[in-house]
Amino acid sequence: MANELRRAAHISGWGRYAPTRVLTNDELSRMVDTSEEWIQQRTGILERRVAGSDETTASMSLRAARAALDVAELDPRKVQLIIVATVTPDYVFPSTACLDQDALGARSAGAFDLSAGCSGFVYALSVAADLIVAGRYDNALVIGAETLSRITDWSDRNTCVLFGDGAGALVLQANEARGGVLASVLGADGSGGDLLKLPAGGSVHPATSETVDQRQHYIHMDGREVFRFAARVLPKATRQVVEQVGLKVEDIALFVPHQANGRIIQSAVKALGIPPDRVFTNLARYGNTSSASVPMALAEAIDEGRVQKGDLIVCASFGAGLAWAATAIEWSLPLPVPEPPRWRIFWRRTLYHLARIQSWWRRLWRRADARLRRLGEGEDE
Ligand code: ACO
Repeated sequence: MANELRRAAHISGWGRYAPTRVLTNDELSRMVDTSEEWIQQRTGILERRVAGSDETTASMSLRAARAALDVAELDPRKVQLIIVATVTPDYVFPSTACLDQDALGARSAGAFDLSAGCSGFVYALSVAADLIVAGRYDNALVIGAETLSRITDWSDRNTCVLFGDGAGALVLQANEARGGVLASVLGADGSGGDLLKLPAGGSVHPATSETVDQRQHYIHMDGREVFRFAARVLPKATRQVVEQVGLKVEDIALFVPHQANGRIIQSAVKALGIPPDRVFTNLARYGNTSSASVPMALAEAIDEGRVQKGDLIVCASFGAGLAWAATAIEWSLPLPVPEPPRWRIFWRRTLYHLARIQSWWRRLWRRADARLRRLGEGEDE
């Protein structure tokens, strides 16, 4: 692996959040024409989480982000870059990353959303790592978060059995120790864009009563074709990224694929010849959470002690676009990470309260300032 000293982006923190509401296959079988057995056999999913009415992509991503910052012991005011990978942002604009920046009080950070379907998180990780290696930033918060339940057609059995909500986050920090994010492969084939899309709500079909009546604001997918595409690109991207760092598939200590369908994962793992005990899946409990799937799975794998210093981890993803991505990481942190002292947790919570007050104050001040200006202009006339 990487022997010479070089500036690299290392994972120093991780966090995940899943809503508490569990939606089981049994419940789904009472909503659409399906069965527990069909869903389990064809997808490997047993249940998924659904966001509560007060939860959004920003609120879930914030929970994952705070957990990741806690592990990294990174003061939110020192975060320099926030990228949120999502296809279900709170708004088209402002970005969810900016909402997180405000809520975290990350006053030194640039923030933007990245949309690359289910591959969004691996794309975001690659972008952030490259910016760190280039010396542009010393740290970055990379989040994958989705509220797919809000764009799922709960009357369409072809799609509604697949998706779930959640968020995962990583903190990347620069240092010259061995390892970190070693390489990434990013790929796209836009000719397959029609296979998986949200037809309306963009500039082609802005929202109208017709688009709503025609259920065009929900996920539309040709599952069979997406399946074939996924089974092809997942092993290909994995091989490419491993070759890029001069290693072999046999060197992979932990494979974290996009959690879309158990059969896709099995087919890729078989093609690659990776032993099952080196593959991490949590699909059965969360379903496909799109951009959140890889960071949620990786964070869970780390918490379960599935990685050790020096291990080669490969995360690989595919989805809407069509787009795919894979990244190779050499784990560089001794585990388990010691619990931070209570006073530090308390201090960080205090910072978040202060951030909220500061945000409120800025809004109030902006409104008062605008009113004063208008009054001033009135007097001038
Ligand atoms: N319950 C019962 N029957 C169903 C269900 C269901 N929930 N869904 C589909 N069927 C039926 C179909 O109607 C079809 O019936 P027919 O033969 O009478 O037409 C039959 O089951 C077989 O359909 P297939 O599509 O061939 O089923 P398949 O085994 O391919 O499984 C699935 C469907 C699970 C959707 C699979 O194709 C898949 O997982 N595709 C990939 C989806 C994916 O990974 N998307 C990821 C990207 S998501 C993103 O980027 C946001």
